[in-house]
Amino acid sequence: MPTTINRGPTTEDDITAEVLRRLESTPDARLREIMLALVRHVHAFVKDVNLTEREWLTAIQFLTETGRICDEKRQEFILLSDTLGVSMVVDLINHRKPDGATESTVFGPFHRSGAPEMPPGGNIAPHDVDGTPAIVSGRVLTLNGEPIAGARLDVWQADSSGRYDSQYPDSGELHMRGLFRTDSEGRYVIRTVRPVYYAIPSDGPVGRMLRATNRHPWRPAHVHFVVSADGYEPVTTHVFDDTDPYLESDTVFAVKDSLIRRFARHDARDDASERFALEPPFYTIDFDFVLKHRA
Ligand code: BEZ
Ligand code: FE
Repeated sequence: MPTTINRGPTTEDDITAEVLRRLESTPDARLREIMLALVRHVHAFVKDVNLTEREWLTAIQFLTETGRICDEKRQEFILLSDTLGVSMVVDLINHRKPDGATESTVFGPFHRSGAPEMPPGGNIAPHDVDGTPAIVSGRVLTLNGEPIAGARLDVWQADSSGRYDSQYPDSGELHMRGLFRTDSEGRYVIRTVRPVYYAIPSDGPVGRMLRATNRHPWRPAHVHFVVSADGYEPVTTHVFDDTDPYLESDTVFAVKDSLIRRFARHDARDDASERFALEPPFYTIDFDFVLKHRA
């Protein structure tokens, strides 16, 4: 009778068990936990969908292309994470806020460092001649409603044609960005243009994924903020326009009800036009940020 020599795993479940066994001695406990869970989930996924070799190669090519299209201005992996909802799950797990604190949302791929410091009322949209002026103002407060003086607001936004400065071919100059500080009453005032809904970059693998799954690439109109102050947890968030048609289907799943506000239109001269030295038409929007003390 021929003897069979069995030195290795033979079934797909044996392979999974053997990979997990070899990872058991990973010295770093957190890395071990992550690697074990990753292998368990990826193997279960492959078995669940009965992945073909052709599909496996398509996935490898997709990820290769995702990496190739990245450069210092384009981060397709963040876009992939965002459009698969992974970024928002990470956000929710990591930023559980007490009631009343401003909720966070995705950072997105369009933040740039080096935005200019601006005085109260400073205009982040000086070259946007087609947009309708908008004043975003409010306070930065503690959970008890006390003003936080000297809080820092890092603000960025797409222009009125729906593009970020870095998406223009000649994109050296920063535009639609500014750093603001609150005054002694915790107040800030930012001049910009009313944001519009825009499509995320769709000319790469993420765009192909969206089209193949019958999804649109649109994000509802918003202004981005990172608000920080000494002794408080910073918050990365957006303020959304309450009339936007894409609030319920944001392609990156980033809308939270508490972040939606009305852009009030001013068609005639009024107190606001005096206060902000603006000719109508323009918009105003009020948003108070509430920060939580650092633990
Ligand atoms: C953004 O709002 O800038 C953004 C966020 C996620 C993906 C693409 C763009
Ligand atoms: Fe954005």
